[in-house]
Amino acid sequence: MKRGCFITLEGGEGVGKTTNLGYIRGYLVSRGIDVVVTREPGGVPLAEELRGFILAQRSLLPEAELLLMFAARVHHFKEKIDPALSEGKWVISDRFTDASYAYQGGGRGIAWQRIGYLEDWLLDGRRPDLTLLFDAPVEVGLARARSRGETNRFEEEERAFMERVRQAYLQRWREEPERIRKIDATLPLPQVQGQIARLLDSIIDTWRP
Ligand code: TMP
Repeated sequence: MKRGCFITLEGGEGVGKTTNLGYIRGYLVSRGIDVVVTREPGGVPLAEELRGFILAQRSLLPEAELLLMFAARVHHFKEKIDPALSEGKWVISDRFTDASYAYQGGGRGIAWQRIGYLEDWLLDGRRPDLTLLFDAPVEVGLARARSRGETNRFEEEERAFMERVRQAYLQRWREEPERIRKIDATLPLPQVQGQIARLLDSIIDTWRP
């Protein structure tokens, strides 16, 4: 059986990833595709416990934060994502390793090379097949995230941190423009979803056996 397609959604705070996740799932299901939706940090019980811990902590060192993200990720990948892909299901994850490059790399200053080492070691060289990067100026995203009320420790970071996160994501996109597709998240929702539908159509057509 052909492996399923692994799609990840990325971007800074408040860029509309989670809103569009439902749209993407619906779009793929309407095209007859078996879809598993998941998120990071989290996705399996142990990783969800780590998520609660990481997001509540105020005093984690950047290195510890990175290692905990990967501790959650290795369970998530080996117990849920990889088996589903092997069964031919498509997996959509709300964040994955690009978030570690952006937040722990760009945001906290850890060298990308170190993150790459963990990625190669722990994920058996596997990468997402398609990454949708929702991009918007930091002010736009932070205002949306704050209007939702609750904020986590990342949403409370200063503006400069979020700017470094955005620039790191854009750097990832420039380095891998085939895998990472940038979506202009400042556009009205119907236009954002139009961009998403076009990208999904192109991958559905090439992915089917
Ligand atoms: P969420 O807001 O998309 O639910 O993600 C939770 C937070 O975790 C978000 O602020 C980004 C952060 N994060 C990292 O810092 N590194 C990572 O590797 C992942 C997956 C998330």
